[in-house]
Amino acid sequence: MPRSVRVTGWGAHAPETVLTNADLERIVETSDEWIASRTGIRERRIAGRDETTATLAATAGLRAIATAGLDPDEIDLIIVATLTPDYPMPATAILVKELIGNRRAAAFDVAAACSGFAYGYATADSFVRAGAARHALVVGAETLSRVTDFTDRNTCVLFGDGAGAVVLSASDAEGGGMAGLELTADPGGCELLWIPSGGSRRPVSPGTLARGEHTIRMDGRETYRYATRTLAASAEAAIARAGWTTADVDLVIPHQANIRIIDSVARSLGYPMERVFVNLDRYGNTSAASVGIALAEAVGTGRVQVGDRIVIVAFGAGYTSGAIALEWTADPAASARAAAIPPVRFAHPGDGGTDEDPVPAVLRPILAAAAAAAT
Ligand code: ACO
Repeated sequence: MPRSVRVTGWGAHAPETVLTNADLERIVETSDEWIASRTGIRERRIAGRDETTATLAATAGLRAIATAGLDPDEIDLIIVATLTPDYPMPATAILVKELIGNRRAAAFDVAAACSGFAYGYATADSFVRAGAARHALVVGAETLSRVTDFTDRNTCVLFGDGAGAVVLSASDAEGGGMAGLELTADPGGCELLWIPSGGSRRPVSPGTLARGEHTIRMDGRETYRYATRTLAASAEAAIARAGWTTADVDLVIPHQANIRIIDSVARSLGYPMERVFVNLDRYGNTSAASVGIALAEAVGTGRVQVGDRIVIVAFGAGYTSGAIALEWTADPAASARAAAIPPVRFAHPGDGGTDEDPVPAVLRPILAAAAAAAT
């Protein structure tokens, strides 16, 4: 049995094409001023037709494996947290296994929406702690642009695409890694933030398609209230389980949903914003990918040092929440190794073989303009 389970690798990836608030002004009745002041978001990334949740996850995963100094075949567990899998079945983690060139890992997905990275991390930590895996890859990855209703200004300004990953490894050294965990699930939120159709309860039909029920539906105010209530409480519970006080924490990495929610959590915990990592202005809300991308950026930009105590905390559909208090042990300089990993793309457009373009029609001109500008 290992003495500890530590983060040894980290990586992130977002598609190249940027969807700005100005682009959204041409799609729905909104304004850069409204979006920036109510959410803090200025732009987000959108996946092209040769990118899916699996390709974004594979790129972030390969970057995490590179920072860990491992070969992809040394990974023996792959967990992908997502609400936008490539297919209802098989699990996206299986596709990621193939894309990264791994032949031996067990692979499955976890579904906990924006809290998925914390749920996936906790699951992988348990496998490694129990001796059932030596190196586990956890990826939060989303292509939310594929399940967003671009006629609904309440939601379409919020979401973006991307992936963030960590490698957790067994260690013979004492300490480090996850010290405290809090996971919650509140069924009262099931129909306040959801995709109503596409499952066994309400299969996709001409009626559900016409009503847009295959896309994200959200009660923004209720979700806002839930988030501000829950995030600080979950973070405090994880900190207490670690045997720390809030004063011991060097950096909080919250789910990047809304700057006003993040401000309110910082206030509740008594932290100045310098102790809270924010990148939502550039990515929007990438759901399960959010804290994974933020963690990789925080380490890569020198915000995390060996010995630092950090807390990742997220909330999402369910309603769920997840908080992990962890001690950082890896050399942040290893971040540089991720730069050598180029984006993984499908050789074929569409879903890996058909001519169907998975990109929503309203986004295709933006992707085409970005491609033209790049050549
Ligand atoms: N542009 C312009 N006006 C808008 C827009 C927009 N994009 N969206 C809403 N409005 C309007 C509304 O129609 C409303 O107008 P009305 O007063 O005439 O009816 C007005 O702005 C105020 O609407 P509110 O909903 O009260 O705005 P609020 O300040 O609450 O901000 C927001 C809305 C940003 C959605 C906020 O409620 C929020 O962030 N909620 C949490 C959402 C969230 O974090 N979701 C992520 C979940 S994670 C997951 O699992 C996917």
